Amino acid sequence: MSSTFKLQCHFILILLMALRGESRHLELRERADHDPFLRFSANLKREPAEEQLYRRALRCLDMVSLQGQFTFTANRPQLHCAAFFIGEPEEFITIHYDLVSIDCQGGDFLKVFDGWILKGEKFPSSQDHPLPTAERYIDFCESSLSRRSIRSSQNVAMIFFRVQEPGNGFTLTVKTKPNLFPCNVISQTPNGRFTLVVPHQHRNCSFSVIYPVAIKISDLTLGHLNGLQLKKSSAGCGGVGDFVELLGGNGLDPSKMMPLAELCYPFHGPAQMKIGCDNTVVRMVSSGKHTNRVTFEYRQLEPYELENPNGNSIRELCLSHL
Ligand SMILES: *[C@@H]1O[C@H](CO)[C@@H](O)[C@H](O)[C@H]1NC(C)=O
Repeated sequence: MSSTFKLQCHFILILLMALRGESRHLELRERADHDPFLRFSANLKREPAEEQLYRRALRCLDMVSLQGQFTFTANRPQLHCAAFFIGEPEEFITIHYDLVSIDCQGGDFLKVFDGWILKGEKFPSSQDHPLPTAERYIDFCESSLSRRSIRSSQNVAMIFFRVQEPGNGFTLTVKTKPNLFPCNVISQTPNGRFTLVVPHQHRNCSFSVIYPVAIKISDLTLGHLNGLQLKKSSAGCGGVGDFVELLGGNGLDPSKMMPLAELCYPFHGPAQMKIGCDNTVVRMVSSGKHTNRVTFEYRQLEPYELENPNGNSIRELCLSHL
């Protein structure tokens, strides 16, 4: 697992940041272009909302963190393409096919995946996603336009595609919808604060930060219990009932990451941990008997913190996997 994976993850994140910068640039430029018309804004009010949709071309490998309309057109045979979509934690992603011109018989494809998948590692893991893995792929060539709009189960989704004939391609509109109880989330940012609430549901939720972070957990409610126990014995919380675990690893799939701490016993005050892994996950396992809630803050570790591990820093655990 490995350094290739790490490189890919970082590549995706760099891509995300670069594209965000670029989108902002485009937005600003667009606004500047339209500036002369701003004073006529009263006259423009009747303009349909669609006109304001952000539009751009989609690349064979791409990352999208904005709502808008995206068009892919092959300029040569493109065999292995993927676009990653990400929204805010409290959002679902919807993907709507506006126009698809691909040759399914000739081996082209266009598939939506409910989550992200990188090197065979999925987020959410199959233990955390409400649907069986096979149902998380929606193949355009099989369902055609009978499923023209697809909604993800969390704030990330992606598409895979192959378009061989130059000139062929597709246009899709990506939008976000509010999600009242976000369960599985990939954070767009290396710093933040989040409260994960699981209201009487028998399900597992993972919040993933794909950066080395210091994480501080507070306000834990697990039904009637409050608690934290650093994983000293292999027994921990016993892996049963309702609990929160802190996972570290260098891949995307929480079920393949190392448990670093479990929270299920009474404790007082915030607990902080530095996790020098590429991916840090706060995962809540819920029986459905209680409403569970955990609040945490995270911030990206500084380079010097990664170089000089001390205190309860556990960089070695992740390094040993490289
Ligand atoms: C939640 O995860 C645990 C393992 O951590 C698994 O045993 C259980 O089946 C999962 N529950 C659901 C509802 O998927």
